[in-house]
Amino acid sequence: MCGIVGYCGPKRVVPVLLESLRRLEYRGYDSAGIVYLENGKLVKHRAKGKLAKLEAIIGDAIIADSHIGLGHTRWATHGAPTTENAHPHSDCTGELVVVHNGIIENYHSLRDELKTKGHTFTSETDTEVLAHLIEEYLENDLVAAVKKAVKRLEGSFAAGILWAKQPDTLIAVRNQSPLVLGVSDDLGTFLASDIPALLPYTRDVIFLEDMEMAVVTATEHRIYSLETDTEIDREVQKIDWNASMSEKAGYRHFMLKEIYEQPQAITNTVSGRIDLEHGTVNLPEINLSNADLKKIDRIVIVACGTSWHAALVAKYWIEKYAGISVEVDIASEFRYRRLLLNEHSLTIAVSQSGETADTLAGIRSAKKLGSKILTICNVVGSTMTREADGTIYTHAGPEIGVASTKAFISQLAALLLLTLYLGQEKKTLPPGEIRSLGKSLIDSAGMVEDILPRLQEEIKELIEPFYDARDFLFVGRGLNFPIALEGALKLKEISYIHAEGYASGEFKHGPLALIDRNMPVVALVPKDAVYQKSISNVEEIKARQGRLILIGTAGDDSLSSLTDNIIYLPEVDEIINPIIYTLPAQLLSYEIATRRGCDVDQPRNLAKCVTVE
Ligand code: G6P
Repeated sequence: MCGIVGYCGPKRVVPVLLESLRRLEYRGYDSAGIVYLENGKLVKHRAKGKLAKLEAIIGDAIIADSHIGLGHTRWATHGAPTTENAHPHSDCTGELVVVHNGIIENYHSLRDELKTKGHTFTSETDTEVLAHLIEEYLENDLVAAVKKAVKRLEGSFAAGILWAKQPDTLIAVRNQSPLVLGVSDDLGTFLASDIPALLPYTRDVIFLEDMEMAVVTATEHRIYSLETDTEIDREVQKIDWNASMSEKAGYRHFMLKEIYEQPQAITNTVSGRIDLEHGTVNLPEINLSNADLKKIDRIVIVACGTSWHAALVAKYWIEKYAGISVEVDIASEFRYRRLLLNEHSLTIAVSQSGETADTLAGIRSAKKLGSKILTICNVVGSTMTREADGTIYTHAGPEIGVASTKAFISQLAALLLLTLYLGQEKKTLPPGEIRSLGKSLIDSAGMVEDILPRLQEEIKELIEPFYDARDFLFVGRGLNFPIALEGALKLKEISYIHAEGYASGEFKHGPLALIDRNMPVVALVPKDAVYQKSISNVEEIKARQGRLILIGTAGDDSLSSLTDNIIYLPEVDEIINPIIYTLPAQLLSYEIATRRGCDVDQPRNLAKCVTVE
């Protein structure tokens, strides 16, 4: 997965490209490159490593008198992360350049064919075939050549194309990888893989759909279907995010800023959707009529990574409060299984980005079988939201840190809203209960705000004897089992410590063998319905001298007989526990990772949005 940007307009292009790339670096940071047109010639700069490496070699090019160009930040899929494999890639003449995100699956055969025709390749990437393929078809009409070339591609692509002989025009094409245009009367036309890249310049955007092409100049944009060859009239949408929402605002890392933005994320997600006076939840955006809802006897939730953990929590909620059977599936498994879905099933995709390839493929398969599709998503206008029957937006604002934090919390809030809504429509929850659970959800924002600063200080101290551990285990029961999984995932992704999450009751079926005096175990033990069972499991770990860290309910003094390492959280309505218990899991990972000197916002080998399989 990579980030692409493009610009044509009155501003000098190099600073625009670099600023936009900086905002897309979460998509990949193996290498970066830009190209711009100066005095009729294309000038390319590429560097292996993070964007800072590219910025370091740019020198005077920063003031180049150029007003059109493309940029790319790479997360390698085909070809090692080297300068030669960094984008932009050129054709044989060096007059045509391409930046690309996605995977051209038939690139081997295309490459062989083009080599036979005399084309010379200088990289190992799949992208380079697109440059040569366009060159092969190019006479005088770039648009026609791009159309012909793109029709030969199999796989996913979002690409930007610039030809020195058509110096005022950028071409963009999209199939199964995100691409959005930004338009501004004063500043020109922008192209990007994701909205944060556009925010310093414009909030007026146009999303390209699969198999569409945009032909843009500084003052004009035209969109065409690559399938029907017709021009498309697409409305400009206004995005309500602003540029400072994707800045660090004084925090050391985006991840920490985003952890502290969680109260706002909860509030934004729930506001206007719960009517406490009448004890009702309003979610017209899910687009399911009463008749649709009556038909639904089964819910399947598909997701990846952190979003999958949010889905696991939702299973407990929906089954308990709405009485509907819920299955939760990892999207990469779901998409290749025989799916027993029909018009009585509701398939829910949970996705921060709305672009994750496996989740998208999952809902496409479910849709074909007649299932209704609902998306819980953070990015307005993303592919999943366009393909679903309905969307509950999470309104967490842009999330830049690769490790998802506020998006997760807002997914929990949205899924809890959905639970209450389903309970209301299925009449399993009376208004009084909706009112009290809804109030707990609304109030959780203030609670998170109060807890965070103190928690961070406590955890900073607590991790000192633990930060250099080689392994970590997390255990939890019921609603807190998915949070144990999330705690382990957070820790391994940003600190590179091996960590696993387990259901407390499952622990004795294997993992207990790992316990000795060197093994840290984080146990989530709120005073909930399964408290006694959880404590028994903790006792088993203590008996084998595991190094316990307990996260429990304020006032539960009995925990001190088990360990000195205790984090207390306020007593809350049980339904809110997953929101509150996520906070120490996030901060523990953050503090351990920073103590170990890790780059928490851009962990090695990972990308924020995975638009490839
Ligand atoms: C990547 C990200 C994770 C995210 C997962 C699913 O692995 O690094 O933070 O949870 O993708 O992404 P989605 O956008 O579908 O929630």
